[in-house]
Amino acid sequence: MFNLILFGPPGSGKGTQSEKLIEKYGWIHLSTGNLLREEIANQTQLGMEAKSFMEKGQLVPDAVVIGMIGSALDANPNASGFLFDGFPRTVAQAEALDELLSEKNTAISLMLALEVTHQELMKRLINRGKTSGRVDDTDEGIIRARLQEYENKTAPVAGFYDRASKLKRIKGEGTVEDIFSAISGHVEAKHVV
Ligand code: AP5
Repeated sequence: MFNLILFGPPGSGKGTQSEKLIEKYGWIHLSTGNLLREEIANQTQLGMEAKSFMEKGQLVPDAVVIGMIGSALDANPNASGFLFDGFPRTVAQAEALDELLSEKNTAISLMLALEVTHQELMKRLINRGKTSGRVDDTDEGIIRARLQEYENKTAPVAGFYDRASKLKRIKGEGTVEDIFSAISGHVEAKHVV
């Protein structure tokens, strides 16, 4: 079983690269952002709670997203691997994920961190906001708040996996294809697929 975390700030290309990775390797894609947006679209209690945080560019409470990931792992007992996109985003989430995976006798294989400059992230997100319909992309202040949340609470998660010798950093600027080929290279160096 191969379990990959695709890590990086908002706009770094996690969603874009995840689509290509699941097509190539057949893993289950677990994006907490997508799962939360589905909950909002379905107007569930969880979605309504999450919405108030997401609209401000703040992280949703750990217990909410950890519960969602636990359910998604249980729902896919025969997966060949999981691709975590946008999770874990705090050290508490990383610790909880280790625990959930060890209950299933597995572990994170690799974290790949996409590195993109602040200026390029702002440019990509403002541009996407013209068509995405995502409330958190439409206001420059909210985009800045998301990037600040990332610096304060999420960036330290890379250190957690670095200490376990599971972190590789990748340049997230350039063509989508070139970045995908760098990512695939790291996956295949770690695991013959
Ligand atoms: P989430 O949905 O995870 O959004 P995000 O991290 O802000 O990431 P994005 O989807 O904005 O960017 P991305 O890295 O996927 O880049 P993409 O490929 O789309 O989270 C949203 C919110 O949900 C959070 O703010 C939080 O409130 C909540 N949440 C989610 N998970 C949580 C958790 N674990 N804990 C607590 N709260 C949580 O690309 C971006 C743009 O760039 C696109 O337009 C794309 O076409 C373009 N692009 C991609 N690659 C390139 C390239 N190489 N060159 C040029 N443009 C490119």
